[in-house]
This record gives sequence, C-alpha cells and structure tokens, in this order.
Amino acid sequence: MSAKRSSFTGKIGFVLAAAGSAVGLGNIWRFPYLAAKYGGGIFLLVYIVLAVTFGFALMVAEIAIGRKTQLSAIGAFKALDKRFSFVGVLASLVPMIILPYYSVIGGWVLKYLVGFSANKAGEMAQDSYFGNYIGSVSEPILCFLVFLAATAVIVLCGVDKGIETVSKFMMPLLVVMIIFIAGYTIFTMDGAIDGVIYYIKPDFSKFSVMTVVSAMGQLFYSMSLAMGIMITYGSYMKKEISIEKSASQIELFDTGIAFLAGLMIIPAVFAFFGGDEAALGQGPGLMFVTLPKIFDVMPGGTVIGTLFFVMVFFAALTSSISLMETVVSIFHDKFKINRKLCCLIVIGICLALGLPSSLGYSAWSEFKLLGMQVLDFFDFASNSVIMPVVALATSIFVGYFLKPKTIIDEVSLDNTFKRKGMFSVVIRYVAPVCILLILISSVLSAFGVISI
Ligand code: PFF
Repeated sequence: MSAKRSSFTGKIGFVLAAAGSAVGLGNIWRFPYLAAKYGGGIFLLVYIVLAVTFGFALMVAEIAIGRKTQLSAIGAFKALDKRFSFVGVLASLVPMIILPYYSVIGGWVLKYLVGFSANKAGEMAQDSYFGNYIGSVSEPILCFLVFLAATAVIVLCGVDKGIETVSKFMMPLLVVMIIFIAGYTIFTMDGAIDGVIYYIKPDFSKFSVMTVVSAMGQLFYSMSLAMGIMITYGSYMKKEISIEKSASQIELFDTGIAFLAGLMIIPAVFAFFGGDEAALGQGPGLMFVTLPKIFDVMPGGTVIGTLFFVMVFFAALTSSISLMETVVSIFHDKFKINRKLCCLIVIGICLALGLPSSLGYSAWSEFKLLGMQVLDFFDFASNSVIMPVVALATSIFVGYFLKPKTIIDEVSLDNTFKRKGMFSVVIRYVAPVCILLILISSVLSAFGVISI
C-alpha cells in the first residue's frame, strides 16, 4: 500500500471521473438495443428498479471497499479476507474481456463519423449499409485498429487529462444533441409516438427472465460495476465526500443518458420500420441502422450527424481509456513490469480477442461459440456470467463475512447514511438470491437446457 494515495480534488471531481467512466457506448449503443429487444417499457421498468436497489447497494459497497482499503480490487479483497481474493481477480478479468470488443464497436463509430463528415449520409441511411459494412473484412478491422491505437497512444503518453477536459465539454453537448434528435423524431415523424409508448409503457406480457438477465448485465456494464472499477475510484476518494450522494448522482446521470438514448433510437425504429419485431430485435446494429436514417431526412443532418458521432466517439474513447488504464495497472501492480510493456501486452490481448470479434460478422460468421457470434459471446461471458458471479460473491462477502456494518460505518464517516436499512437488506438477502437465480437461468439457457 502506498503511504499516501493521491485523491480526487474537489467534491465534483469524483463524480465526474466516475461518470466519465460510466457514460459510454453502454448508454448510447447498448441500452437502446436491449430495451428495444426485451420489451421496451418493461425493460425500462426492470432496469430502474434494479438500479435503485442492486445498483445502488453494489456501487456503495464497491466505493466503500476501495476507500476503506485504499487499494484497487485485487489488493482490496485480499486485504479484507484472503478467502475472497478470487473475487478481485475475477473482477479484473472483466475489463480485459470488454476492452477488445468495445474497441470493435468504437471502430464502427469511427467509420460512421468519417462517413458523415464525407457527406455520405444518404448512402449510410440505406437498409443494407451497416450489414455490408460489418460483413466486409478489412474496413471494420482497420477502424478497430485505429480506435485501439488511439486508446493506446493516449494511455501510453498519459495525455488522458486533455481528453478528459475535452469530454467534459462534449458530454453536456452530447446530452443536448440526444434530446434534440429525440425531439425531432418524435415531433416530426409519423409513427414515432408509438415508439415512445412502446418504450415508456410497461407491457407485462413481454416480461421474461431474459428481461431481468439482460437488464442486470446492462446495469453492471453501464455503471462500471462488478469489474473492480468503482473500487479503484473509491480508493482515490476523500473521506469527507459523501459516498451515498456520489453513488446516487452517478446512477442518475448514467441512467438519464441511457434513457434519453433509448428515446432517440426506439421511436425511430417505429417511424422507419413500423415497430417491426425483426427491426426491434436486431441487436448491436440498431443504433447504426436507425440514426443515419434520421440524419438523412433532417435538415442539416450531415453536420448534426457528424457532430453527434464525434461526441459518441469521445464518450467511447474516455471509456476505452479507463478500461485500458485499468488493465495496464493490474499488470503493472501484479507483475511489476513497466507500463510500456504492460500496454503492449494489453494491445496483444486486444488483437487476439478483438480480431475474431470483428471477423465474427464477416469471414468467420459460420464460427459460433455456444451458438453466438464471437462478439456476442464475449459480451455474454462478461455481462451475463462473470459480472453476476463477481456481484454475487461481493454481496455474500459484504453481507455475511465483512458484514454490512463495516460498509455502513465507512459510508457514514462524512454524513448520515440515509438508505442504510435498504442497503443491508439488499446486500444480504435480495441481491444474493436474485443474482443466483439469474445466473443459473442465463447459463442454462446459453447451453440450451432451458428456454427463457
Ligand atoms: N460503463 C461504460 C459504458 O457504459 O460504456 C463501459 C466501461 C467503461 C466499463 C470503462 C468499464 C470501464 F472501466
């Protein structure tokens, strides 16, 4: 343990840094496609319920563990209880699995940014454009490599502070643009209002175990939970800052942006595809298929589309930087090798996992893992398997070994902890039981034993 750990300056510093890591492709690309696929309003409802219960409890626990131990995930669990060291190790695996495929999607964003700035809105709005693009071999790989290289250069040169400053301006602007695009679609396009209803009004007949499985995986992913990140951030947090308030602010911010992104994309699916089931369920491509269509018909769409993708690109880049930083520091701490070498190793891992993820849509499309495309498989392994395992182990550890009181004491250092009653109940009873059920059902379904 270092004698004096540096800490975030100012009250807002912690929330901004954590929100910068939390807000990314998870909010803008992943949340809308899951909400569209898994029942619209019912997904939204389940997500919000999970966010204010599980999400809140887990975020508070992780930040408090970090602040208490002043260590990042691996060291923190080891210091608190040797038997739970494996949780820190498992958590650290998650960013390593996410980063490669995150960079593949970052590459898609880059392609759209370049396309719009080259005035190709009309071409990009064609139904077959996205499919043809990811179905080609070299271009998606090239975009992936450029995105990965940009991330690596920033991490290696340590210029991420500059990027952070830029993205602090970009983030509010991104929110304004999302609201503007959503408003434009909803108020000017026929059928869009049906999309708003689909997205906001819960239809209980659309509820399935998959709604909960996907909402929970998304919650972990989007809020950077169950992957050690919030533990690390907590270790840099000053004692006088309120953990409870910070956790609530990050959640509100993160969920707010995800909600708005859904409002921008789902009504457009209704306006352009009449809410067709196949269009709603198309998955990872949803954002890339619907947005160009809006920009194509919008006055000034080329400029707005370009600006929009520039901002999404920055949001993705800040997230990929924090993912790479995390992995690099894990290697650096664990194997005591210099950062440059660590970075090269991480790039090697990204190539080994990212290239198959990209090729899974083209040359290797026949190759399936558990019936899934490679990118979907990595997404499933991290979001639906490893993160729930980490969350389950964390809640059991905090609920029964460390005891909720330890966390409550840490959280109460600065302030009274208003929701401590709810925290204890969720972390001891609700979280372990629900996560276990969800984990078992998602794994059994992936192996085809049950259908959910
Ligand atoms: N939470 C990010 C998103 O929603 O895009 C993903 C992420 C970024 C996870 C950075 C972890 C991380 F360190």
